[in-house]
Amino acid sequence: MREFVNKIIAGDAIELFRKIPDNSIDVTFADPPFNLKKKYNGYKDSLEFEEYLKWCELWIKEMVRVTKPIGSIFIHNIPKWLTYYSSILNKYATFRHWISWDAPTSPMGKSLQPSHYGILYYVKDIKQTKFYELRYPHKRCRKCGYLLKDYGGKKEMLHPFGPLLSDVWTDIHRIKHNKYRDEHPCQLPIHLLERLILMSTDESDIVLDPFMGTGTTAIAAKRLGRNFIGFELDTNYVSIANNKLHYEKSNSTIGEYWVSFFLKDIISLRNIDWEGVSKFYSLPRNNRAIDHTQIEFIDKKKILKHFDFVFNSNGKIKQDSMQLEFCNCP
Ligand SMILES: C[S@@+](CC[C@H](N)C(=O)[O-])C[C@H]1O[C@@H](n2cnc3c(N)ncnc32)[C@H](O)[C@@H]1O
Repeated sequence: MREFVNKIIAGDAIELFRKIPDNSIDVTFADPPFNLKKKYNGYKDSLEFEEYLKWCELWIKEMVRVTKPIGSIFIHNIPKWLTYYSSILNKYATFRHWISWDAPTSPMGKSLQPSHYGILYYVKDIKQTKFYELRYPHKRCRKCGYLLKDYGGKKEMLHPFGPLLSDVWTDIHRIKHNKYRDEHPCQLPIHLLERLILMSTDESDIVLDPFMGTGTTAIAAKRLGRNFIGFELDTNYVSIANNKLHYEKSNSTIGEYWVSFFLKDIISLRNIDWEGVSKFYSLPRNNRAIDHTQIEFIDKKKILKHFDFVFNSNGKIKQDSMQLEFCNCP
C-alpha cells in the first residue's frame, strides 16, 4: 500500500480499492458524483437510478472494508442519496451523525428550497473510534461585533474562542467565485475537509478519498500533517490536484497545534488544544467582554505571515467566504 500513500491515482475507484488492504485506513471520505447530470470532464453523471445505487453499494462496502476499526467513514451528498447510502451503511457500520452543512442553492420551485448538504458520519467500531471535540469561532454581528446568540445570564461562562461544534454547520460557505475555483463542477471548500480531519484523525494518519476531484481532501490532509490516498477517474483533475499539492506545506499550525485557518483566524480547533492555543491570544480579564469583543492574536502579524504562506502558495488566497450575518443593531 505504501506506493499509494500521498498520491492521487488516476483510475476507477472500485478497481483501485481492491489494492488497499482491509482495516488499513484511518478515515475514508467520499464525495461521489451526485448523478445529477453535472458537467464533469470525462465522467457521465447520469446513470439509471438502480444502476447508480448498485454502483454506490460497491464503493461504500469498500470504504467500510478498508477503514480501521478505530476509523471513521464520511460520505457527502444531497439528502436524497444519503437516505439510500444510510440503508447500505447500516448493514456494515455504525451510525454516528448526519452532519447538516448549511449551503443554500438556487430555488427549484414546487419544493422547499434545498439549503443543506449532508455528511454521513459512520464508524466501524463505536467502542474504539477516535473522536476529538472541536470548537469554532463565536458568530458575531459584522457591524457591531456583538454575539449573534444571546447567552442571557451565562455570559461569565462564555468560552473565549467559541462554542463546541454541533452537527449543524453554518459557518462554511460553498466556493462561490469562479476565480477561486478550479475547472470542476463541485469542488468542496478545503476547511470543510479540515474540520472532518481534525475531528477524526491524528498527525500522520491516512485519509482516503476515492473521488478526489481536484484534490480538496488531499490538500486538507497535507496542510494538517496527515497522509492521503486519492483515486480519481479524470486525469485532467488529477493533474490540477497534483499541481496544487506541489505548493502546499504541512504547516497549518499555531505553535505545536494543528488548526484549520481561514482568512485571518482559526475556524476549527480541537477542544483539547485550547489551553495551548490560548497562549497565542490576548484574553480579556472579564469573560463578559467576549459578548462584544472578539479575541485577537498577541502577535497577529507573525501568525498571519505564517498562514499567508499556506494560503498564497497556489495563487488563490481566499478560496471562499464566511457567511455574513448581522444582528438587529441600529
Ligand atoms: C463530486 S466530485 C468530487 C469533488 C471533490 N470533492 C473536490 O472537492 O474536488 C466526484 C468526482 O468523482 C470522479 N469519478 C466519477 N466516477 C469515478 C470512478 N469510478 N472512480 C474514480 N473517480 C470517479 C469524477 O470525475 C469527479 O471528479
